[in-house]
Amino acid sequence: MTLPASGLRITSTLHADGRLELELAEAPVAAPRAGEVVVRVEAAPVNPSDIITLLAGADPGQARAEGSPARPRLVAQLGEAALRAQAARVGLPLAVGLEGAGEVVAAGEGAGALAGRRVAVFSLGRGTFAQYVTVAAEACVPLPPGTSAAEGADVFVNPLTALAMLETMRLEGHAGLIHTAAASNLGQMLVKACLEDGIPLVNVVRRPEQAALLRALGAVHVCDSSASDFRAQLVEALKATRATLAFDAVGGGRLASDILAAAETAAASRTSGYAAYGSNERKQLYVYGRLDPSRMELAHGAFGPYWGVGGWVMTPVLEQIGPQRTRALQQRVVAGLKTTFASAYAREVSLAEALSPKTVAAYGRKATGGKYLLDPTLRA
Ligand SMILES: NC(=O)c1ccc[n+]([C@@H]2O[C@H](COP(=O)([O-])OP(=O)(O)OC[C@H]3O[C@@H](n4cnc5c(N)ncnc54)[C@H](OP(=O)(O)O)[C@@H]3O)[C@@H](O)[C@H]2O)c1
Repeated sequence: MTLPASGLRITSTLHADGRLELELAEAPVAAPRAGEVVVRVEAAPVNPSDIITLLAGADPGQARAEGSPARPRLVAQLGEAALRAQAARVGLPLAVGLEGAGEVVAAGEGAGALAGRRVAVFSLGRGTFAQYVTVAAEACVPLPPGTSAAEGADVFVNPLTALAMLETMRLEGHAGLIHTAAASNLGQMLVKACLEDGIPLVNVVRRPEQAALLRALGAVHVCDSSASDFRAQLVEALKATRATLAFDAVGGGRLASDILAAAETAAASRTSGYAAYGSNERKQLYVYGRLDPSRMELAHGAFGPYWGVGGWVMTPVLEQIGPQRTRALQQRVVAGLKTTFASAYAREVSLAEALSPKTVAAYGRKATGGKYLLDPTLRA
């Protein structure tokens, strides 16, 4: 195939006056250098991390459409505080889309083995919300024959994150996990991966229907934060599982505090005799998402003497475990793309439709089962 000189891609630009512009426009397709490939993108999921890059915290409900149906532009205004928080990206037209799947249509020297293959791609900074993306061959994982682009679009972000959580749990010596916003796409994968590995998991959700969804997948411990006895449910689940490591995607409000306090109550119930300061068991909570942008409140008097709260992201964990183990995790994901690591999408849309105010507002809600998939091969 001859490589086209240019292709459509979505960019997000924040201007110094707080104006945010999302645009679908032609951009040159970079010819592959040695060790690189060009992928014709066939599917790319819209993940919460992409929504952060795309919207920079702007309210999609306030955005106005400009441009034409084939070359749409969406314009929103950021307030002063949000603009200050995003100062580092002012003036940069950011390519959007961390991952996707598609066909390798050109390969540079040393990357010929991928030519013509359908691959999953991790495109840090290059942007998969585009017709073409040029990436390092090592950022691609070949998909097995019979795997559709939609099935292979999410190999890296959610599945590898779920598996990296299990790696952290093992490295830090915890017996089980607690997970919040647990009915998320990632949370459903974590339920299945923990069942496969025999790892105790306490799922925290915020609606009864989310609890039912996870139980249908086989989840044993599901605590609903909307229930009046939520804290008691949590303590019982933490006693039963001895889980002391929490991954919190919510990141705001009192939920993290409730979890650490419940973990201390459960740990204290295992402590024999009188412990003046509380249990010596370590309780750790990692914030790995920001679904609730409000301030986190920590009533740490209830956590005992030995606890920690920190940020967590998948990539340093993969560096820590090294390339060989990372490849093994990738292979596990690829083998489970139709089962453990299958993603369901609410809708598949074209690049142009991805910028319509209604569509942006819909995927911007990050609702359970509300994930969108972009198909850049679709016409507007
Ligand atoms: N740090 C990393 O390395 C890393 C990597 C991958 C993913 N992540 C994070 O993982 C999280 C899940 O991603 P995903 O793609 O699986 O999400 P998703 O499928 O879009 O699901 C989002 C879930 O969050 C819930 N939710 C939204 N706002 C909430 C709030 N304020 N409080 C409690 N629950 C809320 C939704 O429930 P409702 O239906 O009730 O709204 C839904 O179940 C995201 O925060 C993402 O940023 C982090």
